[in-house]
Amino acid sequence: MSKKRVLSGMQPSGRLHIGNLVGALQNWVKLQDEYECYYFIADWHALTSQYADTSQIKDNIRDVLINWLAAGLDPEKSVMFIQSWVPEHAELHLLLSMITPLGWLERVPSFKEKQEEVKDKDLNTYGFLGYPLLQSADILMYKANYVPVGIDQLPHLEITREIGRRFNYFYGNVFPEPEGLLTEFPKVPGVDGRKMSKTYDNCIYLSDPAEDVERKIKTMMTDPQRVKRTDRGDPELSPVFQLHKIFSDKGEQAEVADSCRSAKIGCLDCKKILLKNLFKILEPIWTRRKEFMNRADILEDIIQAGATRAKKVASETLIGASKATGLWINQQNK
Ligand code: TRP
Repeated sequence: MSKKRVLSGMQPSGRLHIGNLVGALQNWVKLQDEYECYYFIADWHALTSQYADTSQIKDNIRDVLINWLAAGLDPEKSVMFIQSWVPEHAELHLLLSMITPLGWLERVPSFKEKQEEVKDKDLNTYGFLGYPLLQSADILMYKANYVPVGIDQLPHLEITREIGRRFNYFYGNVFPEPEGLLTEFPKVPGVDGRKMSKTYDNCIYLSDPAEDVERKIKTMMTDPQRVKRTDRGDPELSPVFQLHKIFSDKGEQAEVADSCRSAKIGCLDCKKILLKNLFKILEPIWTRRKEFMNRADILEDIIQAGATRAKKVASETLIGASKATGLWINQQNK
Protein backbone atom coordinates (compact mmCIF):
# COMPACT_ATOMS: atom_id res chain seq x y z
CA MET A 1 0.00 0.00 0.00
CA SER A 2 1.39 3.39 -0.87
CA LYS A 3 1.87 5.99 1.82
CA LYS A 4 -0.62 8.77 2.20
CA ARG A 5 0.55 12.16 1.13
CA VAL A 6 1.17 15.21 3.30
CA LEU A 7 1.75 18.70 2.00
CA SER A 8 2.43 21.95 3.74
CA GLY A 9 4.03 25.29 3.07
CA MET A 10 5.60 28.13 4.97
CA GLN A 11 6.03 31.73 3.93
CA PRO A 12 9.55 33.11 3.99
CA SER A 13 8.34 36.19 5.80
CA GLY A 14 11.09 36.44 8.40
CA ARG A 15 13.21 34.42 10.75
CA LEU A 16 11.62 31.35 12.36
CA HIS A 17 10.97 31.36 16.09
CA ILE A 18 10.39 28.67 18.72
CA GLY A 19 6.64 29.05 18.17
CA ASN A 20 7.12 27.91 14.57
CA LEU A 21 9.33 25.11 15.86
CA VAL A 22 6.84 23.51 18.24
CA GLY A 23 3.73 24.63 16.36
CA ALA A 24 4.73 23.30 12.96
CA LEU A 25 8.26 22.12 12.35
CA GLN A 26 8.52 19.40 15.00
CA ASN A 27 5.25 18.01 13.75
CA TRP A 28 6.47 18.05 10.14
CA VAL A 29 9.58 16.17 11.22
CA LYS A 30 7.44 13.48 12.86
CA LEU A 31 5.18 13.14 9.84
CA GLN A 32 8.02 12.37 7.45
CA ASP A 33 8.42 8.85 8.89
CA GLU A 34 4.84 7.89 8.22
CA TYR A 35 3.84 9.82 5.13
CA GLU A 36 5.13 10.89 1.76
CA CYS A 37 5.78 14.53 2.60
CA TYR A 38 6.04 17.61 0.43
CA TYR A 39 7.16 20.78 2.17
CA PHE A 40 7.66 23.99 0.30
CA ILE A 41 8.64 27.60 0.84
CA ALA A 42 5.76 29.75 -0.36
CA ASP A 43 7.71 32.61 -1.91
CA TRP A 44 4.90 33.72 -4.21
CA HIS A 45 2.59 33.90 -1.20
CA ALA A 46 5.12 36.18 0.48
CA LEU A 47 5.06 38.43 -2.57
CA THR A 48 1.30 38.92 -2.30
CA SER A 49 1.90 41.16 0.69
CA GLN A 50 5.59 42.09 0.43
CA TYR A 51 5.75 43.09 -3.21
CA ALA A 52 6.85 46.63 -2.45
CA ASP A 53 10.00 45.60 -0.62
CA THR A 54 11.50 42.31 -1.68
CA SER A 55 14.98 43.01 -0.39
CA GLN A 56 14.79 40.39 2.38
CA ILE A 57 13.07 37.63 0.52
CA LYS A 58 16.05 35.66 -0.73
CA ASP A 59 17.77 35.67 2.67
CA ASN A 60 14.54 34.63 4.31
CA ILE A 61 14.08 31.71 1.94
CA ARG A 62 17.58 30.55 2.73
CA ASP A 63 17.02 30.92 6.45
CA VAL A 64 13.78 28.93 6.33
CA LEU A 65 15.55 26.13 4.50
CA ILE A 66 18.44 26.10 6.97
CA ASN A 67 16.01 25.96 9.87
CA TRP A 68 14.05 23.12 8.31
CA LEU A 69 17.18 21.07 7.93
CA ALA A 70 18.45 22.06 11.37
CA ALA A 71 15.16 21.03 12.96
CA GLY A 72 15.41 17.60 11.38
CA LEU A 73 13.62 17.64 8.04
CA ASP A 74 15.49 15.07 6.00
CA PRO A 75 15.82 15.48 2.21
CA GLU A 76 16.00 11.68 1.92
CA LYS A 77 12.54 11.43 3.41
CA SER A 78 10.76 14.66 2.50
CA VAL A 79 10.58 16.62 -0.70
CA MET A 80 11.59 20.20 0.08
CA PHE A 81 11.24 22.86 -2.56
CA ILE A 82 10.63 26.49 -3.38
CA GLN A 83 7.19 27.22 -4.81
CA SER A 84 8.35 29.45 -7.67
CA TRP A 85 10.77 26.79 -8.85
CA VAL A 86 7.75 24.67 -9.77
CA PRO A 87 5.87 27.07 -12.06
CA GLU A 88 3.09 24.51 -12.48
CA HIS A 89 1.69 26.04 -9.27
CA ALA A 90 1.04 29.25 -11.20
CA GLU A 91 -0.54 27.36 -14.08
CA LEU A 92 -2.92 25.45 -11.86
CA HIS A 93 -3.74 28.67 -10.04
CA LEU A 94 -4.72 30.19 -13.38
CA LEU A 95 -6.82 27.20 -14.37
CA LEU A 96 -8.63 27.22 -11.03
CA SER A 97 -9.19 30.97 -11.25
CA MET A 98 -11.54 30.39 -14.18
CA ILE A 99 -14.06 28.56 -12.01
CA THR A 100 -13.61 30.55 -8.81
CA PRO A 101 -16.48 32.90 -8.00
CA LEU A 102 -15.15 36.26 -6.79
CA GLY A 103 -17.44 36.14 -3.78
CA TRP A 104 -15.73 33.02 -2.46
CA LEU A 105 -12.41 34.83 -2.30
CA GLU A 106 -13.86 38.03 -0.90
CA ARG A 107 -15.52 36.03 1.86
CA VAL A 108 -12.33 34.34 3.14
CA PRO A 109 -11.89 35.95 6.57
CA SER A 110 -8.14 36.58 6.23
CA PHE A 111 -8.76 38.81 3.20
CA LYS A 112 -10.68 41.56 4.99
CA GLU A 113 -8.97 41.01 8.33
CA LYS A 114 -5.48 41.41 6.99
CA GLN A 115 -6.46 44.37 4.87
CA GLU A 116 -7.76 46.10 7.98
CA GLU A 117 -4.93 45.00 10.23
CA VAL A 118 -2.03 45.82 7.94
CA LYS A 119 -1.98 49.55 7.47
CA ASP A 120 1.46 50.10 5.96
CA LYS A 121 0.81 48.03 2.82
CA ASP A 122 -1.73 48.28 0.06
CA LEU A 123 -3.31 44.84 -0.02
CA ASN A 124 -6.04 45.82 -2.42
CA THR A 125 -4.51 43.78 -5.21
CA TYR A 126 -5.46 40.96 -7.52
CA GLY A 127 -2.59 38.86 -6.14
CA PHE A 128 -3.64 39.28 -2.54
CA LEU A 129 -7.28 38.44 -3.28
CA GLY A 130 -6.00 35.27 -4.95
CA TYR A 131 -3.89 34.22 -1.96
CA PRO A 132 -6.22 31.39 -0.86
CA LEU A 133 -6.62 30.21 -4.43
CA LEU A 134 -2.86 29.97 -4.91
CA GLN A 135 -2.85 27.94 -1.71
CA SER A 136 -5.60 25.72 -3.12
CA ALA A 137 -3.45 25.12 -6.19
CA ASP A 138 -0.48 24.21 -3.93
CA ILE A 139 -2.55 21.62 -2.12
CA LEU A 140 -4.60 20.16 -4.98
CA MET A 141 -1.47 19.89 -7.13
CA TYR A 142 -0.07 17.09 -4.96
CA LYS A 143 -3.47 15.48 -4.33
CA ALA A 144 -2.51 15.73 -0.69
CA ASN A 145 -4.49 13.68 1.82
CA TYR A 146 -3.37 15.71 4.81
CA VAL A 147 -2.31 19.30 5.29
CA PRO A 148 -0.69 20.07 8.66
CA VAL A 149 -1.53 23.69 9.44
CA GLY A 150 -2.42 26.01 12.27
CA ILE A 151 -6.03 26.73 13.09
CA ASP A 152 -5.84 30.10 11.30
CA GLN A 153 -5.43 28.27 7.99
CA LEU A 154 -8.65 26.24 8.20
CA PRO A 155 -10.67 28.68 6.05
CA HIS A 156 -8.04 28.26 3.34
CA LEU A 157 -8.45 24.52 3.53
CA GLU A 158 -12.18 24.86 3.33
CA ILE A 159 -12.00 26.91 0.15
CA THR A 160 -9.50 24.39 -1.25
CA ARG A 161 -12.06 21.62 -0.82
CA GLU A 162 -14.79 23.77 -2.37
CA ILE A 163 -12.63 24.64 -5.37
CA GLY A 164 -11.67 20.99 -5.83
CA ARG A 165 -15.30 19.95 -5.70
CA ARG A 166 -16.30 22.62 -8.16
CA PHE A 167 -13.56 21.59 -10.58
CA ASN A 168 -14.64 17.95 -10.29
CA TYR A 169 -18.25 18.97 -10.86
CA PHE A 170 -17.39 20.71 -14.14
CA TYR A 171 -14.72 18.43 -15.51
CA GLY A 172 -14.82 15.03 -13.80
CA ASN A 173 -13.11 13.52 -10.85
CA VAL A 174 -9.60 14.95 -10.75
CA PHE A 175 -8.97 16.19 -7.22
CA PRO A 176 -9.43 14.30 -3.92
CA GLU A 177 -10.44 16.28 -0.83
CA PRO A 178 -7.61 17.18 1.52
CA GLU A 179 -8.00 17.15 5.27
CA GLY A 180 -6.36 19.46 7.78
CA LEU A 181 -4.05 18.06 10.44
CA LEU A 182 -4.16 20.35 13.45
CA THR A 183 -1.23 20.37 15.80
CA GLU A 184 -2.20 19.89 19.40
CA PHE A 185 0.15 22.54 20.73
CA PRO A 186 -1.23 25.55 22.57
CA LYS A 187 -0.23 28.99 21.40
CA VAL A 188 3.33 29.70 22.40
CA PRO A 189 3.52 32.91 24.42
CA GLY A 190 6.12 35.50 23.50
CA VAL A 191 8.36 37.22 26.04
CA ASP A 192 5.63 39.80 26.75
CA GLY A 193 2.94 37.18 27.36
CA ARG A 194 1.09 37.79 24.10
CA LYS A 195 1.11 35.19 21.33
CA MET A 196 4.62 34.82 19.95
CA SER A 197 4.64 36.71 16.68
CA LYS A 198 7.02 38.72 14.56
CA THR A 199 4.56 41.58 14.53
CA TYR A 200 4.77 41.92 18.30
CA ASP A 201 8.55 41.72 18.38
CA ASN A 202 8.38 39.24 21.27
CA CYS A 203 10.03 36.20 19.71
CA ILE A 204 12.82 33.85 20.56
CA TYR A 205 14.32 33.10 17.18
CA LEU A 206 16.05 29.88 16.19
CA SER A 207 18.89 32.09 14.99
CA ASP A 208 19.25 33.90 18.34
CA PRO A 209 22.61 33.25 19.98
CA ALA A 210 22.50 31.68 23.46
CA GLU A 211 23.14 35.06 25.14
CA ASP A 212 20.08 36.56 23.49
CA VAL A 213 17.86 33.67 24.48
CA GLU A 214 19.12 33.98 28.04
CA ARG A 215 18.54 37.72 28.17
CA LYS A 216 15.08 37.41 26.66
CA ILE A 217 13.99 34.74 29.13
CA LYS A 218 15.54 36.51 32.09
CA THR A 219 13.68 39.74 31.34
CA MET A 220 10.45 37.93 30.58
CA MET A 221 7.40 38.81 32.62
CA THR A 222 6.02 36.31 35.17
CA ASP A 223 3.00 36.35 37.49
CA PRO A 224 2.44 40.13 37.76
CA GLN A 225 0.93 39.72 41.23
CA ARG A 226 4.07 38.14 42.62
CA VAL A 227 6.00 41.28 43.44
CA LYS A 228 8.37 40.22 46.21
CA ARG A 229 10.46 37.07 46.34
CA THR A 230 8.53 35.95 49.42
CA ASP A 231 5.12 36.37 47.72
CA ARG A 232 3.40 33.18 46.70
CA GLY A 233 2.91 32.99 42.95
CA ASP A 234 0.34 31.56 40.60
CA PRO A 235 2.14 29.73 37.80
CA GLU A 236 -0.96 29.83 35.61
CA LEU A 237 -0.61 33.61 35.41
CA SER A 238 3.00 33.40 34.27
CA PRO A 239 3.94 33.11 30.60
CA VAL A 240 7.23 31.57 31.77
CA PHE A 241 5.26 28.66 33.14
CA GLN A 242 3.41 28.34 29.82
CA LEU A 243 6.83 27.82 28.25
CA HIS A 244 7.65 25.21 30.91
CA LYS A 245 4.52 23.36 29.82
CA ILE A 246 6.00 23.11 26.35
CA PHE A 247 9.70 22.67 26.99
CA SER A 248 9.99 20.95 30.40
CA ASP A 249 8.98 17.42 31.32
CA LYS A 250 5.94 16.75 33.49
CA GLY A 251 7.96 16.15 36.64
CA GLU A 252 9.81 19.41 36.41
CA GLN A 253 6.60 21.27 35.54
CA ALA A 254 4.95 20.02 38.72
CA GLU A 255 8.00 20.86 40.78
CA VAL A 256 8.29 24.38 39.41
CA ALA A 257 4.56 25.01 39.87
CA ASP A 258 4.61 23.82 43.48
CA SER A 259 7.71 25.81 44.32
CA CYS A 260 6.16 28.91 42.78
CA ARG A 261 2.94 28.51 44.75
CA SER A 262 4.85 28.04 48.00
CA ALA A 263 7.43 30.73 47.20
CA LYS A 264 10.14 28.13 47.58
CA ILE A 265 11.87 29.35 44.45
CA GLY A 266 12.06 32.80 42.89
CA CYS A 267 11.23 33.70 39.31
CA LEU A 268 14.87 33.73 38.29
CA ASP A 269 15.34 30.14 39.55
CA CYS A 270 12.28 29.10 37.58
CA LYS A 271 13.68 30.79 34.47
CA LYS A 272 17.02 29.06 34.86
CA ILE A 273 15.33 25.66 34.79
CA LEU A 274 13.43 26.72 31.68
CA LEU A 275 16.64 27.88 30.04
CA LYS A 276 18.32 24.58 30.76
CA ASN A 277 15.48 22.71 29.04
CA LEU A 278 15.19 25.17 26.19
CA PHE A 279 18.92 24.89 25.49
CA LYS A 280 18.63 21.11 25.38
CA ILE A 281 16.30 21.50 22.41
CA LEU A 282 18.03 24.45 20.79
CA GLU A 283 21.66 23.36 21.02
CA PRO A 284 21.48 20.58 18.42
CA ILE A 285 19.56 22.97 16.16
CA TRP A 286 22.27 25.62 16.55
CA THR A 287 24.97 23.08 15.74
CA ARG A 288 23.21 21.99 12.57
CA ARG A 289 22.45 25.58 11.60
CA LYS A 290 26.17 26.32 11.72
CA GLU A 291 26.91 23.32 9.55
CA PHE A 292 24.49 24.40 6.86
CA MET A 293 25.24 28.13 7.02
CA ASN A 294 28.56 27.66 5.28
CA ARG A 295 27.41 25.05 2.83
CA ALA A 296 25.60 26.93 0.09
CA ASP A 297 26.43 24.02 -2.22
CA ILE A 298 24.49 21.50 -0.12
CA LEU A 299 21.51 23.82 0.18
CA GLU A 300 21.50 24.33 -3.56
CA ASP A 301 21.62 20.55 -4.20
CA ILE A 302 18.78 19.85 -1.79
CA ILE A 303 16.50 22.50 -3.18
CA GLN A 304 17.27 21.55 -6.79
CA ALA A 305 16.54 17.89 -6.14
CA GLY A 306 13.34 18.87 -4.32
CA ALA A 307 12.12 20.94 -7.24
CA THR A 308 12.79 18.08 -9.65
CA ARG A 309 10.82 15.62 -7.54
CA ALA A 310 7.97 18.05 -6.95
CA LYS A 311 7.82 18.94 -10.63
CA LYS A 312 7.32 15.31 -11.56
CA VAL A 313 4.09 15.11 -9.58
CA ALA A 314 3.04 18.65 -10.46
CA SER A 315 3.36 18.26 -14.22
CA GLU A 316 1.35 15.03 -14.12
CA THR A 317 -1.46 16.68 -12.20
CA LEU A 318 -1.42 19.64 -14.51
CA ILE A 319 -1.68 17.53 -17.64
CA GLY A 320 -4.53 15.60 -16.03
CA ALA A 321 -6.33 18.79 -15.07
CA SER A 322 -5.78 20.43 -18.47
CA LYS A 323 -7.04 17.30 -20.24
CA ALA A 324 -10.11 17.18 -18.05
CA THR A 325 -10.73 20.84 -18.85
CA GLY A 326 -10.79 19.94 -22.54
CA LEU A 327 -7.69 21.78 -23.71
CA TRP A 328 -5.49 20.49 -26.52
CA ILE A 329 -2.46 19.07 -24.70
CA ASN A 330 1.01 19.73 -26.05
CA GLN A 331 2.46 16.23 -26.27
CA GLN A 332 5.96 17.63 -25.83
CA ASN A 333 5.11 18.60 -22.27
CA LYS A 334 4.69 14.99 -21.28
N1 TRP B 1 -0.80 30.29 4.00
C1 TRP B 1 0.15 29.46 4.69
C2 TRP B 1 0.66 30.24 5.92
O1 TRP B 1 0.77 31.44 5.88
C3 TRP B 1 1.33 29.10 3.81
C4 TRP B 1 0.90 28.21 2.69
C5 TRP B 1 0.89 28.51 1.38
C6 TRP B 1 0.43 26.87 2.82
N2 TRP B 1 0.46 27.45 0.65
C7 TRP B 1 0.16 26.43 1.49
C8 TRP B 1 0.20 26.01 3.90
C9 TRP B 1 -0.32 25.15 1.25
C10 TRP B 1 -0.29 24.74 3.64
C11 TRP B 1 -0.55 24.32 2.31
O2 TRP B 1 1.01 29.62 6.89
